[in-house]
Amino acid sequence: MNINSVRLIYFSPTHTTKRVLEAIARSFPEAAVEQYDLTLPGARLPEETAGEGVLTIFGAPVYGGRLPAQARERLRLVRGGGMAVVVVLYGNREFEDALLELWDLAQELGYIPIAGGAFIGEHSFSTPEVPVAAGRPDTADLEAAAEFGRRIGKKARRLTGLDLVPSLEVPGDSPYREWKGLSIPPETDASLCIRCGTCVRICPTAAISSGVGMPTDLVACIACCACVRECPTGARVMRDERIREKAVWLNEKCAERKEPQTFV
Ligand SMILES: Cc1cc2nc3c(=O)[nH]c(=O)nc-3n(C[C@H](O)[C@H](O)[C@H](O)COP(=O)(O)O)c2cc1C
Repeated sequence: MNINSVRLIYFSPTHTTKRVLEAIARSFPEAAVEQYDLTLPGARLPEETAGEGVLTIFGAPVYGGRLPAQARERLRLVRGGGMAVVVVLYGNREFEDALLELWDLAQELGYIPIAGGAFIGEHSFSTPEVPVAAGRPDTADLEAAAEFGRRIGKKARRLTGLDLVPSLEVPGDSPYREWKGLSIPPETDASLCIRCGTCVRICPTAAISSGVGMPTDLVACIACCACVRECPTGARVMRDERIREKAVWLNEKCAERKEPQTFV
């Protein structure tokens, strides 16, 4: 089967998942590429029709060795079918059950997964003082993503029908590990905040209001740190000791570079 259309469907608060999916898609220069970014509430969903020759690439970050609950909820709204690839991005600690969870979810939605990959992205809690996987995905990661794309293309071309996809296993345990999520919001440094509303617009869970100090809903916040990264004046800061300690731990214990793992 030749791939003439590639759909990227992802949840990616700090954009590392998006970047890896785009690098994979560049290995299909003949195909039309459509992007469905489900990071914000109410995002546009793809049309249901997915004929032969359409490849859907699902992507999400790893939170606590699982998919973030919000990614799972948004992806569950997707209807379709055909060939799929699943990709998770993790911050150089571990991806545990997240890849298997995304693989199972794609199947639940009616897709036939033909490949999976776990890539490394700068950890959401990384700071210039306490870096964790800083700068990743880097050139080598994006080349690995492109090579993954080429291998997926080869596999798809060899397939004569979707009922004939050879079985493949990706790592992970089921039942999946428990992860209750983190509700630890960043704070706003009032002396730096210019009330531009960037944080309000880009928050994946609409947890931030535009009042004085940009108050953040403790329950809705998923600690993704998108607001910290995108604040134009550096006013959004993660001051919570638990996150800072976690970053120090990650910086020390997960310093050794991990490489992307792909299953085709
Ligand atoms: C709440 C939370 C939990 C996380 N848990 C893990 C984890 O279990 N393992 C890991 O290696 N990275 C973990 N990370 C780091 C993210 O997986 C990593 O930063 C990823 O690149 C984010 O993807 P995105 O840029 O597409 O949002 C976590 C990040 C957050 C915010």
